[in-house]
Amino acid sequence: MDVLCKILSIPATLLAKVPGIGPIVKVCCTSVGQKILMALTGLSLCGFLVAHLAGNLNLFAGEEAFNGYAEKLHSLGPLLAMAETGLFGMFVLHIGLAVSTTAMSRRARTNQYEEKNSKQQGFILPNGGASNLMLVTGLIIFAYLVLHIIDMKLNLRGFESGDNKFQLVRNVLRNPMNGVFYVVAILALGVHLTHGVTSACQTLGISHPRWNKLIRILGVLFAWKIAIGFISLVVWAYATI
Ligand code: HEM
Repeated sequence: MDVLCKILSIPATLLAKVPGIGPIVKVCCTSVGQKILMALTGLSLCGFLVAHLAGNLNLFAGEEAFNGYAEKLHSLGPLLAMAETGLFGMFVLHIGLAVSTTAMSRRARTNQYEEKNSKQQGFILPNGGASNLMLVTGLIIFAYLVLHIIDMKLNLRGFESGDNKFQLVRNVLRNPMNGVFYVVAILALGVHLTHGVTSACQTLGISHPRWNKLIRILGVLFAWKIAIGFISLVVWAYATI
């Protein structure tokens, strides 16, 4: 972890010397600055998830509708390439910041707590609580994303597709190993978002003793609506002939 942090801090050290953006980079190197950036990238990725789920729900409308949606998306050409680059940057930043803030707080923790308290009640686990859970679920989602892009975007494992995105998606999801891994990873995503959304709101100051319970309920509802939405697509793949 230390080595990784040192590697991650090289670009920050260089950028901090650039006039104009130097002060911003310095703020981002503090643990508070990093937590704010992590919250912002996390919420932006939630925006992507909503759009991605909405697009993929076209699978329920049939082959023509889904292929039409996929073609429309790809016809955006350079715009799509730019959006995908931004998305990739957002994932890299979010993961890099997760590694960095975890290492920072581990270093800052001089005493071993008998019992570790999470920021939120009801999500306390032994040996690390919510933060360890975020790391583990984050790693599962990362592994999932690598496999997901290899199959859905690049089709490097050669799934039968007949040059047709609808068939490709269905065949990828119908592979039993994929099906199980997708469900496990999407459940991990649900857990990750359950804590992440509420935590991001708190970091960004969206909190008030009067509204915190409601914010948490909305966060949980959002997380599991997204997770159930994606899992329904896996179920669909097995339910259709
Ligand atoms: C069963 C559920 C899902 C289906 C059917 C699905 C489908 C797809 C498809 C067809 C593509 C390729 C798009 C293209 O060719 O341009 C794709 C790309 C991608 N998916 Fe998913 N996806 C699912 C779940 C997820 C989840 C849960 C995440 C995030 C945790 C995710 C993140 C991505 C990313 C980052 C890309 C690459 C960016 C892009 O091309 O849009 N997907 N997905």
